[in-house]
Amino acid sequence: MGKMDGRVAIVTGAAQGIGRAIADKLAAEGARVVVADLNGAGAEAAAPEGGLGMKVDVSSEDDVKRMVADTVAHYGRLDALVNDAAIVPFVAWDDLDFAEWKRIMAVNLDGLFLCCHHGSRPMRDAGYGRIVNLCSNVVLAGTPNLAHYVASKGGVLGFTRALAREIGKHGITVNAVAPGLTETEGTMASPHAESFEFVQMLQCIPRRGVAADIAPSVAFLASEEAGWVTGQLLVADAGMSHN
Ligand SMILES: NC(=O)c1ccc[n+]([C@@H]2O[C@H](COP(=O)([O-])OP(=O)(O)OC[C@H]3O[C@@H](n4cnc5c(N)ncnc54)[C@H](O)[C@@H]3O)[C@@H](O)[C@H]2O)c1
Repeated sequence: MGKMDGRVAIVTGAAQGIGRAIADKLAAEGARVVVADLNGAGAEAAAPEGGLGMKVDVSSEDDVKRMVADTVAHYGRLDALVNDAAIVPFVAWDDLDFAEWKRIMAVNLDGLFLCCHHGSRPMRDAGYGRIVNLCSNVVLAGTPNLAHYVASKGGVLGFTRALAREIGKHGITVNAVAPGLTETEGTMASPHAESFEFVQMLQCIPRRGVAADIAPSVAFLASEEAGWVTGQLLVADAGMSHN
């Protein structure tokens, strides 16, 4: 028996990386999983058995409405929403301009708002729901070349805490998971790939983090048994930082 048996989950940004590992983990725990990603072909390919792939831009309200409506039309319910889709940039402060700031906020924060806004409706109607938002351990110390990203993830944390207080009365929990530097398609294609050795020295467990290291924390918070935990930040970074 899996802890997600009979449950339906949406995981955004799940065509690759941490989101894909989360989709696989939730499916292994028994959930039917909708993989929603800007990369439509990647979403189709990543959808676990019994799941669905959907091309969705989380910063588009029309797309997000369709994502939720199609999920409920197909499965009749939505139990868990994992907000993983984000842009992880690398821009030094001197090169950061307003257009780049807004590009990050549109996905990392507007997208989060839209998915929670529309995704929480069927949960409220059912009197049950689990929302898990991907934050980052960069909010705990600040990290160079990421000011706009750190600001967006700080927003994820504050929003998580506030939303938890708003919708707990409907049986919906809202939590955040903060990974540390993790090997994904995204990080390996960016200058962050150079940081693994340094980061490992700061971890309690001195090895490179992979996407499968993050998924179990998300799966716990997405499960029914985590019902007494809400508004929390679970840091999954091999003990590098303290919350
Ligand atoms: N990898 C890390 O080191 C790390 C560390 C801390 C936090 N995180 C967080 O974990 C999450 C996943 O990171 P990752 O490294 O797996 O990312 P990634 O870049 O490998 O994958 C991100 C996925 O999101 C999708 N996406 C981007 N914009 C989208 C949009 N507008 N609508 C829908 N989908 C969109 C991409 O197509 C991609 O499939 C992010 O929220 C990130 O901030 C990652």
